Amino acid sequence: MTEPQLDILYTEDQIQARIKDLSLQIRRDYGDEPMVLIGVLKGSLMFLADLSRHLGHQVRIDFMQLSSYEGGTSSTGVVQIRKDLDQTIEGERVLIVEDIVDTGLTLAHLRELLMTRHPSMLRAVSLLRKPEAAKVEATCEYVGFEIPNQFVVGYGLDYRERFRNLPYIGILLNPD
Ligand code: IMP
Repeated sequence: MTEPQLDILYTEDQIQARIKDLSLQIRRDYGDEPMVLIGVLKGSLMFLADLSRHLGHQVRIDFMQLSSYEGGTSSTGVVQIRKDLDQTIEGERVLIVEDIVDTGLTLAHLRELLMTRHPSMLRAVSLLRKPEAAKVEATCEYVGFEIPNQFVVGYGLDYRERFRNLPYIGILLNPD
């Protein structure tokens, strides 16, 4: 197997500094009231772990896992739930935690789905967003970094389940 070639896009220090900024913004908007973080598995695991540690004491953490199916070369936009939340979010102040917004299909679908469960507040944070890849309008109130339309790995993001454990984010130059 050829060695993967990665161009570092954001170092560990840059990521951690940006997460601190995001947490200040979020704390300003959500206050110190109880809130629920919904991590979208698996990509958001590192981001959720680090972000949550800056968000005070009244934080509950839950997870969802979704999968989107591509129909041939164009996305069908069908998003299925592989793991649902453990608890209800009715009347709760909810923040979706995403690794990356690419086409926007996952986030748009998730927002629509969670709204039907009547949270009192619903916003989303994503560490990364690729504006050029957007296929649908997906509102994301907090974005860590806007990146070019290239495939990135590390800090939770994978290529065929590899690279999630890297502490930095890199562009994968030679996917096989
Ligand atoms: P969507 O296209 O916005 O629905 O993104 C769906 C999912 O695709 C994201 O949550 C990621 O898990 C994955 N994804 C999109 N772009 C990348 C990338 O550059 N690297 C790794 N995973 C990605």
